[in-house]
Amino acid sequence: MPPHNVIIDCDTGVDDALALLLALRSPEFNVLGITNVAGNVPLNKVVRNTLVVVEHSGKNVPVYQGASHALTGGAETAEYAHGSDGLADIGFPEPKLVKQEEHAVDYLVRTFMESAEPIDLITLAPLTNIALALLVEPRLEEHIHSLVMMAGGISGGNTTPAAEFNVWVDPEAADAVFRSHIPMTMVALDPIRQGGGIYPEDVDRLEKCGASWCWMASRLLRVQRTRWEEYLGHPTPASPPDLAAMGVALDPTLAEAQMLPVVVETGGKHTRGMTLVDRREGRMRFRSGQEPNVNTVLSIDNARYRKLVLDTWLED
Ligand code: RIB
Ligand code: CA
Repeated sequence: MPPHNVIIDCDTGVDDALALLLALRSPEFNVLGITNVAGNVPLNKVVRNTLVVVEHSGKNVPVYQGASHALTGGAETAEYAHGSDGLADIGFPEPKLVKQEEHAVDYLVRTFMESAEPIDLITLAPLTNIALALLVEPRLEEHIHSLVMMAGGISGGNTTPAAEFNVWVDPEAADAVFRSHIPMTMVALDPIRQGGGIYPEDVDRLEKCGASWCWMASRLLRVQRTRWEEYLGHPTPASPPDLAAMGVALDPTLAEAQMLPVVVETGGKHTRGMTLVDRREGRMRFRSGQEPNVNTVLSIDNARYRKLVLDTWLED
């Protein structure tokens, strides 16, 4: 099978970096471009981090700067989870690569509208760039072959009890994307947390590999595990959300999923940014009138996911 053409939209923090390293090293993907949006850290740091990751991947993929704020102007960040520089404050050297001049939204619209070949979109961040692209060119939803998102929660959030960070930062953007007709898969927090993620022995193997992408991945995984244990006060599995979503994008057979109705709460004093997944059966489900619109991942085969990640990075 020829590699899939993909575009990745991210807010490069630690787990985005790991996901990018997986995508860029995989023979299954032809990464056409990477678009950046503010999220984990402010946009300038997101772009810098993305260039650092691309450099460590041994590839040269164009990086495009996008939205610096949410549609309604917010600019919430998550340095507590990713470090002040967004890459766990490890101190990776400044990149030599530079970003493209074209705005990410213009790149997204132009590339999807002009491409004669299918292109799959993978998002690991607040959905501001995608919502803006859909506003600029409404026909875009017919030209995006598929969308895999790390977004949302099925039974709750991480940033609030109700909302997952990517949706919480820009609920209006998420609502616009979830209401679009793009064939979409949501990799929410629940299946990621249930898996167990990457094990310490996996990191040991990566540390023995000499490649720059292995070195970067092992440093990020090792340091992030320590940071989270200090932050939470107890050991916790390394389940980087974006890495798991990228695993599902690479091999959808890793996931058990179901088409379900999903809506985004944009009001709600306590629930703004919630992804409301209707798992009720039968006639009750459609009382709200919401048809099943999202392929919702319910579980991930963690053993096969770990194997995919390690085999991809350790492949000569
Ligand atoms: O809630 C986890 C998501 O929010 C991940 O994409 C992480 O990078 C942050 O963007
Ligand atoms: Ca992210």
